[in-house]
Amino acid sequence: MKYLIVASLLMIFYFGCSIENQDGKTNSENANFVFVDSTLITNDEFGESVKLGRALMLHTSELIGPEGNMGKYLGNKMNCSNCHQEAGTKPFAFNLMRAHQRYPQYRPRENKVLSLADRINNCIERPHLGKPLPYDSKEMIAFLSYFKWINSFVQKLDSFPGEKNLKLEFPKIPADSRIGAQLYLNKCSSCHGENGEGVMHESNRFYVYPPLWGKNAYQAGSSMHRITIMASWLKANMPHLIAKYNQPVLTDKEALDIAAFINNDSLHPRTVPIKVDYPNIKTKPFDYGIGPFADTFSLFQHKFGPFEPIIAFKRNQSN
Ligand code: HEC
Ligand code: HEC
Repeated sequence: MKYLIVASLLMIFYFGCSIENQDGKTNSENANFVFVDSTLITNDEFGESVKLGRALMLHTSELIGPEGNMGKYLGNKMNCSNCHQEAGTKPFAFNLMRAHQRYPQYRPRENKVLSLADRINNCIERPHLGKPLPYDSKEMIAFLSYFKWINSFVQKLDSFPGEKNLKLEFPKIPADSRIGAQLYLNKCSSCHGENGEGVMHESNRFYVYPPLWGKNAYQAGSSMHRITIMASWLKANMPHLIAKYNQPVLTDKEALDIAAFINNDSLHPRTVPIKVDYPNIKTKPFDYGIGPFADTFSLFQHKFGPFEPIIAFKRNQSN
């Protein structure tokens, strides 16, 4: 594949700022961020499919949303890039550059081996409340082409900075949605709205600021609905354009408290998918908020923490 060789030859690494730890002290090593330059996408047929895939990541709602130009697949008007920022290439933001080489993979949520196309359809069904893209559709092939192309930048690396979100330290007390509510009003509501409703673009086809709860936001059972998963993303990325992975605005505890507020189902009910998750309940993640569980920790503790005792229990069980 000629494009792969060209892409790897032109692969650009640039030196980002040095990593600061939570006390603001600078570590000695530099982070080598992988920069994906979309102008390198070739102008041949494969390149056209990659370009469409990138456009689908960035402008999902306009292309395949409820009023999409190409087809009507999504149930809401969010874009993939609202979470997988910069079309899945931003470090510490649910980065997708490894996805192509990670699948097919066993997934406990479905209790079966999924292809990357299945996994893409998972995100289309939830958080986007959509109907799956046909496997041979132009759109699905475009997503797959794009994931293969961004993978070519990192395929041979053992790891790369920002491949995973920031790791948080979990407090010994549960995440507190009352504290989160106050923080939300001060730091988030100016864009996402007091009722988490977001701000719709005047065209009514996509959001300027995406919604965080309500019937237009992601559903229960989406990964973003798990408090630790959301908090690890918030710390590096929100408030938008202010927080940076090495200059977070929120402390770990604040990020968890806000995620607890946003994801508190008694305050903010969400659409619940009909599908049954984790047929083998032993494989449920420690902070999955929907029972039954294969342990005696309460539903509350699974949802809000403290998480360490559950993590330790699961670790002991698997030894
Ligand atoms: C509301 C936020 C959100 C939106 C919107 C979203 N995703 Fe995701 N996606 C996630 C989270 C969270 C994960 C799980 C990440 C983890 O477990 O670390 C994920 C995982 C994935 C994965 C699996 C990655 C891997 O290596 O296992 C793929 C592929 C993916 N998403 C594609 C998409 C596509 C394509 C869209 C748009 C159609 C989309 N996502 C929209 C939040 C979102
Ligand atoms: C300056 C405006 C602004 C502020 C302030 C802000 N956000 Fe965001 N937020 C955005 C934008 C824009 C996006 C979409 C990012 C993208 O598409 O790259 C987003 C995306 C999100 C998402 C993922 C998408 C979704 O709708 O689920 C979450 C969760 C989120 N923000 C939470 C927060 C929280 C919590 C705070 C406060 C700590 C906050 N934001 C502050 C603008 C903002």
